[in-house]
Amino acid sequence: MHSTKQPKAMKKTQRPAAPQRAARRVQRVANAIRPQSTAATTQKKRPTAIGHMGNFLEGRSAIVTGSTSGIGLGVAKALAAHGCNLTLNGFGDSNEITQLQKDISTQYNVKVRYSPADMTQPSQIREMVQGAQKEFGSLDILVNNAGIQHISSVEQFPEEAWDRVMSINLDAVYHATKAAIPEMKKTGYGRIINIASVHGHVASINKSAYVATKHAVLGFTKATALELAGTGVTCTAVCPGWVLTPLVQKQIDLRATQNNQTNAEARISLLSEKQPSKEFVTPEDLGNTIVFLSSPFADQLTGTSVVLDGGWISQ
Ligand SMILES: NC(=O)c1ccc[n+]([C@@H]2O[C@H](COP(=O)([O-])OP(=O)(O)OC[C@H]3O[C@@H](n4cnc5c(N)ncnc54)[C@H](O)[C@@H]3O)[C@@H](O)[C@H]2O)c1
Repeated sequence: MHSTKQPKAMKKTQRPAAPQRAARRVQRVANAIRPQSTAATTQKKRPTAIGHMGNFLEGRSAIVTGSTSGIGLGVAKALAAHGCNLTLNGFGDSNEITQLQKDISTQYNVKVRYSPADMTQPSQIREMVQGAQKEFGSLDILVNNAGIQHISSVEQFPEEAWDRVMSINLDAVYHATKAAIPEMKKTGYGRIINIASVHGHVASINKSAYVATKHAVLGFTKATALELAGTGVTCTAVCPGWVLTPLVQKQIDLRATQNNQTNAEARISLLSEKQPSKEFVTPEDLGNTIVFLSSPFADQLTGTSVVLDGGWISQ
């Protein structure tokens, strides 16, 4: 059921001059505007299904770090739905991960490999990037998504927890980006997309390490984008507000216990405090955004962040 199509030959050749690149971009945009599936548009309120812009990522390959769960899994599925071969990564039960690979591969007719790389280990990150380049011929899209939270006041923050948050949320972004850039530059197309957070723009109490890493990721995104400007490789960040994933469910459980609330009450109070829409952002919302960022429509979108937060940081 795997696609046999190889990455486009053009990617291995020298980069064309700017006017030709501009003409090609216009053509790619035109090609990408096709009649849409009604799947995402028939829903009255917020479409949570994966939208469709055609298989414009066919022959491309993506790594989504931390894609065995939550946002990363939603992003991986959205890329696969547009024809992109995948390297999944993250922790979890090995049988479940194998099943996930099969399910995504069958549903979207793409190749899906799995890297068990631990994002705290630079050598494993490099191997993951090289493995994708070797198996798929290129690595075109890198989504630095793996991330963890630790809740504690600064005074009480354990040093090991601080180091772990830094290592996974920030250092891994640098190691993976560094490993991916050379080949992306050679092919003249690349997307480095960092999943930051509203906490890249604003702070909350008891999340000092998380807030520090997410602000740093936005700075790293800008610096990387400047270095890569004009190469065909962009670097952007996506900043979600609350998304109902295992990472947030833990915070809801904690809140329910501390405030003697039911789970439903804790969810509502969590949303009401910060997110004016009072609705969770979904992994599908984020997947569709990353598909857009990977498209020719976003060729000039670099060094900045896209915020999906139901109005959180506008307050
Ligand atoms: N859920 C939210 O509300 C929210 C909001 C803003 C930003 N984010 C960011 O989105 C990203 C994903 O968060 P999520 O909510 O989907 O979390 P999640 O806990 O559901 O998923 C995290 C993923 O990262 C993987 N992971 C954790 N440590 C790892 C390591 N050392 N090596 C490799 N993989 C590792 C896990 O196995 C899992 O696949 C994070 O960067 C998080 O900061 C989440």
